[in-house]
Amino acid sequence: SNQTFGKSILDLTELSKKEIISLIDLAIRLKKAPQDYANVLNGKILGMIFEKSSTRTRVSFEAGMLQLGGQAIVMNGKETQIGRGEPIKDTAPILSSYLDALMIRTFEDKKVQDLVKYGSIPVINGLTDDHHPCQVLADLMTIYEHKGTFEQVKLAYVGDGNNMAHSLLIGGAIVGMDVSIACPKGYEMKAEYVTCAKKIAQKSGATLEITQEPKKAVEQADFVYTDVWSSMGWEEEQAKRESVFAQKYQVNAQLVAHSKAEYKFLHCLPAHRGEEVTAEIIDGSHSVIYQEAENRLHAQKALLVKILVKN
Ligand code: CP
Ligand code: NVA
Repeated sequence: SNQTFGKSILDLTELSKKEIISLIDLAIRLKKAPQDYANVLNGKILGMIFEKSSTRTRVSFEAGMLQLGGQAIVMNGKETQIGRGEPIKDTAPILSSYLDALMIRTFEDKKVQDLVKYGSIPVINGLTDDHHPCQVLADLMTIYEHKGTFEQVKLAYVGDGNNMAHSLLIGGAIVGMDVSIACPKGYEMKAEYVTCAKKIAQKSGATLEITQEPKKAVEQADFVYTDVWSSMGWEEEQAKRESVFAQKYQVNAQLVAHSKAEYKFLHCLPAHRGEEVTAEIIDGSHSVIYQEAENRLHAQKALLVKILVKN
């Protein structure tokens, strides 16, 4: 039976290893034969609220719903009454009476939790300050396409201890992949998520490493991942962050020389060439960023099917 049916996805701890593998299997089938699933979400409507910019998340979720026979309603948070201060306590039950599921991209995770608390439909986190679970589902699918397993696979993340770092650490811990994360002092991940991931890793057998040394993180890595130095909401810190991160947290030829010879480069995008990664690396032969971005569509279609269809 499908355990994911009816679930909200605030972060990846909502999903077991079994559920993630089953989701990736479905995503791979959806990628190969999308026409076989053209009607599975007939009559279903996904609402999407954006309080931050988006290209991939917005278009892949909306296209995904349409390809599955459903529909999507995209809302700019500022143009809704949420933007004028209407409480989530009222918004959540009302949207629940119109929609089958809701996706939200926002700042505080509390808002997603409150939508779940006061609403009665599944809620999907489309990026918050602390998590980006949908991105990591696509990342895990991409890794699986290359390796066919998560065992004996090492992912390195170099950069800001942000939403991507948290979700990669938690996602890796769940599926039993080795994850090493290098963040500069002062820009580390939140301790609660590290503790949570370590607890999960004890069961799954994943090796998690947290360091300040990028060279150590990328040592013998199969996948090297980075993200922007200033996430959405932190733009005013750009200059200060650049001076810290530029010291040694750029993914460049020198750094990836420590990874496996056949390593692959990942980035959630959008990217800033010349900052967190050089053009040589992100546009080079090891980069799989477009495959990774395409997989947003397939992984989220699989997630929507799992959440909205009982069997
Ligand atoms: N990676 C990602 O979430 O992209 P968007 O901001 O374009 O949605
Ligand atoms: N860490 C980035 C990811 C964007 C997809 C941000 O939150 O802006």
